[in-house]
Amino acid sequence: MNNLIKESLKKLKQKNINNPELDLRILLKHASKKNNEIILSNLNIDSIDTATFKKSLQKRINRQSIAKIINNKSFWKYDFYVNNFVLDPRPETELIIEQVLTIYKNKNQKLKILDIGTGSGCIAISLAKEFENASITAIDISQKALEVAVKNSKIHNCGNQIQFKLIDFKNISSKFDLIVSNPPYLTNDQFNNTDPEVKNFEPKLALVGGDDGLKFYREYSNTLHNLMNKKAYFVCEIGINQRQDCEVIFQNSGLDLINITHDLQGIDRILSFSKI
Ligand SMILES: C[S@@+](CC[C@H](N)C(=O)[O-])C[C@H]1O[C@@H](n2cnc3c(N)ncnc32)[C@H](O)[C@@H]1O
Repeated sequence: MNNLIKESLKKLKQKNINNPELDLRILLKHASKKNNEIILSNLNIDSIDTATFKKSLQKRINRQSIAKIINNKSFWKYDFYVNNFVLDPRPETELIIEQVLTIYKNKNQKLKILDIGTGSGCIAISLAKEFENASITAIDISQKALEVAVKNSKIHNCGNQIQFKLIDFKNISSKFDLIVSNPPYLTNDQFNNTDPEVKNFEPKLALVGGDDGLKFYREYSNTLHNLMNKKAYFVCEIGINQRQDCEVIFQNSGLDLINITHDLQGIDRILSFSKI
C-alpha cells in the first residue's frame, strides 16, 4: 500500500473517524484526475491530484463532513449541492417524501405545497420531481441557504415549479394543500454535545429549536391551521423523544394527528396531520 494512503488512514483513525477506509476512498475519488476506480491496496498515485487530496484530507481531519468537503449529498433519488450554509440532507428526512406519497396516490394532482425551512431545497425539489403539476413555495430565513436551494433547483431543472422566498413562516399568508417541514429541533444542550461535523460546520439556525427544541412545533400549532386549505395535510419531522410533547402541543391546533412514521432505528420521526 502506498505511503500516502497508509499515513492518511492513520491520521483519520487517530481522529476517531468512524469509517476511515470509506472516507479515504471518497476523498481519493474526489481528487482523482480521471474519475478512476479507487483501489486502496493498488492505487496509481499519479491518477490523483495530490494537492486537492491533501486539502480535502485535512478538512476531514478537522471533522468537516464528507458531504461538505465534496459539496454533494444524496437525498431521495437525487444528488444535492451542499455547503456550510445548509444542513446536509439526512436519510430520515426522506420519510417525509414517502409519507406524502402515501397520502397523495395520484401524482398528477395540482397541489399547492409549502416547504418551511427549505435549506438545500432537498424536500421541495424531490416533491417537485414526484408531483410535476404541483406548485411549490419553498421558504427560509437564510439568504445563503436559499442560494443553495435555487442552485439545486436549476441542477434538477424544476425551478419553474418552485418559488423560493426569503421569509419567516410567521409572515406567510396564502393557503396550501400540503405543508412540509423539517424544522430546527435540537435543544441547546444537544447542539453543544453533538458531533463536530454538525456543531462546527452546519448552521446553528438550521438546528436549534429554542431551549427545549420544541419552539417551532409550538409556533406551527398556533399558525399553520390558517395556512391550510380544506382537507390539507401537514407532514413534519421531529427529534428524538419529541413525539409525546408534540402530541400535547398540537392538541388544540385544529389539526388531527393521523400518522406517526418511525425511522430505521425505530425512533418516532415523522408526524402527519390533517386539517379538522
Ligand atoms: C433542519 S433545517 C432543514 C433543511 C432542509 N429542509 C432539510 O430537510 O435538509 C431547517 C431550516 O429552517 C430554516 N429556518 C429557521 N427558522 C426559520 C423560520 N422562522 N422560517 C423559515 N425558515 C426557517 C433554517 O435556516 C434551515 O435552513
